[in-house]
Amino acid sequence: MQANFKMLIKGILTFIPGLYAVFAKPMSETGTHSARYCYSVWLRHLVTAHENGLQTDPRVVAELGPGSSIGTGLAALISGAESYCALDVVEYGGTERNLAIFDQLVDLFRSREPIPGEDEFPEVKPNLASYQFPDQVLTAERLNRALEINRIARLRKSVVSAGADDSCAHYKVPWHDVEVIESSSIDMIFSQAVLEHVDDLGHCYDGMYQWLKPGGLMSHTVDFRCHNTAQAQDWNGHWTYSALTWRLIRGRRSHPSINRLPVSQHLRFMQLAGFNVVVEQRFPLPTKIDEKQVAPRFRPISQTDLTTSGVLIQALK
Ligand SMILES: C[S@@+](CC[C@H](N)C(=O)[O-])C[C@H]1O[C@@H](n2cnc3c(N)ncnc32)[C@H](O)[C@@H]1O
Repeated sequence: MQANFKMLIKGILTFIPGLYAVFAKPMSETGTHSARYCYSVWLRHLVTAHENGLQTDPRVVAELGPGSSIGTGLAALISGAESYCALDVVEYGGTERNLAIFDQLVDLFRSREPIPGEDEFPEVKPNLASYQFPDQVLTAERLNRALEINRIARLRKSVVSAGADDSCAHYKVPWHDVEVIESSSIDMIFSQAVLEHVDDLGHCYDGMYQWLKPGGLMSHTVDFRCHNTAQAQDWNGHWTYSALTWRLIRGRRSHPSINRLPVSQHLRFMQLAGFNVVVEQRFPLPTKIDEKQVAPRFRPISQTDLTTSGVLIQALK
């Protein structure tokens, strides 16, 4: 399997003093620079939870890896949550961007805009059976209460004073220590395209378990594809690379990078942490590689792992 030559060269160049800063730049922009993306992502987590009979009205919400803005969490606040805490390892965005996204999100909820779907965001998962505004979850009564003018003004102020004691929005960057969030204080934690980037997955799932209240929900979309480290048509080519090739591709960068762990490993860590997995919606893709081509580190590997390009997992503490 051919490594993506450009990625390999860039990785190698980071080992040369003076070139590290040029080639080790963190991710510049993620999907959350767009209000419509944030709206779409939050509603997909919410609708999927509803379809599976899980809670859809969390009071205290946390998010791992919000990226370019905290907009997805702001969508959670606007639709009814009382507080939101974002944890990331790289600082992105800023108040001005978050405010602009907040205002656009309020308009989207006020006009009960349909969920932006596969045409607009073909890469965003999970796909839904319907992209109509989810009146079944955000009923007129709930939304009227949530969009009440004084409430929205208070939330908007919280975006400006994010992190202050009286703010509803908190952004902790970088986070490492599980103590960053009080134990058993969160109703729902979610992430979108983040857990494939986390190096210490066991620590992360243990943290999430500790933060959630008993019965609390976690909802994660994970993308197992190669993130440009292989040729475009070889979505799982990264599992064939030896430790050395991978070390060269990664270079001295700590971000952006992927942990290369397949779905079974995520499920194992969740189980070890104590989670009860309720929803496992896999996004299958045909594989061009078989077990013999997979690097020793990943063997044995199941056919399920080899053909799972992504997953939406919802689990309860
Ligand atoms: C591909 S971006 C996705 C961002 C955003 N969720 C979105 O949908 O646009 C991955 C994000 O995960 C963050 N990340 C990586 N490792 C992390 C960790 N250990 N804890 C929290 N966030 C992490 C990155 O900094 C980045 O914000």
